[in-house]
Amino acid sequence: MARRARTRAHAPFSRFRVGAALRTRAGEVVIGCNLESAAYGLTMCAERVAVFKAVSEGLGPFEAIAVVADSNRLTPPCGACRQVLWEFCGDVWVLVQDLRGRSRTVRVSELLPFPFDRRNL
Ligand code: THU
Repeated sequence: MARRARTRAHAPFSRFRVGAALRTRAGEVVIGCNLESAAYGLTMCAERVAVFKAVSEGLGPFEAIAVVADSNRLTPPCGACRQVLWEFCGDVWVLVQDLRGRSRTVRVSELLPFPFDRRNL
């Protein structure tokens, strides 16, 4: 589903298209793709689109997110997405895959080992 979501990416500036699929523990799946703005800083990553769609629909708790992109190196979530995943989804599995099917699975806690969150406030 992440691979299919990627086809909806709006990435005319970077031409780097990313798809994400976020799964709840109950098995529902919410997809996202990256959406780029001509005001570049407003760009939203595929992962955060999926997370914000799901949370705004009242879904959760979450189990895993898949992220698909086409590059020589596997594409892990950016720093902003790691923070949002940690806060809204917890320590879920993150499966990153390229179009050739090469993949790696890690936990959010491996991507963000010393996190800032509400416990710090
Ligand atoms: N991007 C994502 O959607 N997810 C990632 O994990 C990495 C980066 C997007 C943002 C931007 O539209 C493009 O990829 C290039 O940075």
